[in-house]
Amino acid sequence: MDKIRIHGGVPLRGAIQVSGSKNAALPILISSILAETPCTFRRVPDLQDVRTTFQLLSHLGMTAQFDALQGRAVLHAPATISCEAPYDLVRKMRASVVVLGPLLARFGRAKVSLPGGCAIGARPINFHLSALEKLGAKIELEGGYVIASARKLKGARVGLEFPSVGATENAMMAAVLAEGDSILENCAREPEIMDLAGALRAMGAKIEGDGTEAIRIQGVSSLHGCDYQVMGDRIEAGTYLAAGLATGGQVRVDGLGAPELESVLVKFEEAGATVVRNESFVEVAAGGRPRATDVTTLPFPGFPTDMQAQFMALMAVAEGTSVIKETIFENRFMHVPELSRLGADITIRGNTAVVKGKRQLKGAPLMATDLRASASLVVAGLCAEGETLVNRVYHLDRGYERIEEKLRALGARVERVK
Ligand code: UD1
Repeated sequence: MDKIRIHGGVPLRGAIQVSGSKNAALPILISSILAETPCTFRRVPDLQDVRTTFQLLSHLGMTAQFDALQGRAVLHAPATISCEAPYDLVRKMRASVVVLGPLLARFGRAKVSLPGGCAIGARPINFHLSALEKLGAKIELEGGYVIASARKLKGARVGLEFPSVGATENAMMAAVLAEGDSILENCAREPEIMDLAGALRAMGAKIEGDGTEAIRIQGVSSLHGCDYQVMGDRIEAGTYLAAGLATGGQVRVDGLGAPELESVLVKFEEAGATVVRNESFVEVAAGGRPRATDVTTLPFPGFPTDMQAQFMALMAVAEGTSVIKETIFENRFMHVPELSRLGADITIRGNTAVVKGKRQLKGAPLMATDLRASASLVVAGLCAEGETLVNRVYHLDRGYERIEEKLRALGARVERVK
């Protein structure tokens, strides 16, 4: 299993290009199930989760071509495909459950394995299922599978109990081909939802209000192929910016607008960083040792749960004590015992972590546990003195394209070892 070896203590300096967003690319690739002619997607990041998505779509009988160097994918769902997403694929990647909506909408049936537990919490799919039921689907649970069917989905008013990202995506992809109008309420407002809506509009869907809590959709009878470019990855960008600040450096990330990252940038400023916001790049510069800054994770436009672990790594070297509260997932502090191995002083009380900043962390061997937890270990390792070896790098490969290469471009001493 690959490991990442880091010799910490070098302030990161320079600029990198952000990759296409993982969390936008996955549902956008899956949305091609809805289109009758081929879809071309650009700026698709070469990530393990993207490869799993191609495997899943190929398993359904779709044709999938991916030019990883160009970040270009061409996908086509013929008139008949298999509608079953098996356990082996859904287990690898929970986002696979968003095939439910498009399969139901275009083919009238779907059999999708329940995703099961996940390292960062229970993550059930009850909100997805009740939204699809409101659109007229019949849902049964059998042998660990969701079996959904509908002769024709019907437009409806769908109120989500919580602004779940995945449930909003499933409901949108179901409603675009439903008969009549739908209003989806209490929707997730994440930029990735707007990107999915953009891709669907490029296929001929009629959607308004994405980015607000109410999305209005006028069902159409069919969708066609499109040529669409995926947005930049705000979490990847935030991770490199956090690494820049934690090491006392200056980092610019190109290919992403500042508004998507605003809640994180505000916290970087509170921690003493200088932030330059531009339409196509964001730059941060450390103003000495970071200051302790409290954070509570919330749905967008609040502070993203996917940046919580990396921000905690920054706070581990801050001056003073910060309080980090996780409200989205119930078990998302798995990075804490690993950060402690580097000498961080962090106490967990329920859904809150109290971080007493240390002037200096010391390198150690670490174990990655999930995607963003692993990213926080890399951030901490980059500012720790001496060598840090992060094991189980496959977690990072799920969401960070060419991470060692990008870090090296910023001056980090990082290598992948077998
Ligand atoms: C997506 C992101 C993930 C991010 C999360 C929150 C992708 C591929 N993943 O995950 O990186 O951390 O949004 O911003 O885009 N819940 C239920 N029942 C449901 C659905 C969700 O109880 O039917 C709960 C979850 O357990 C969790 C919370 O709602 O506690 C938020 O989940 P959700 O917004 O659905 O996250 P995902 O779409 O899984």
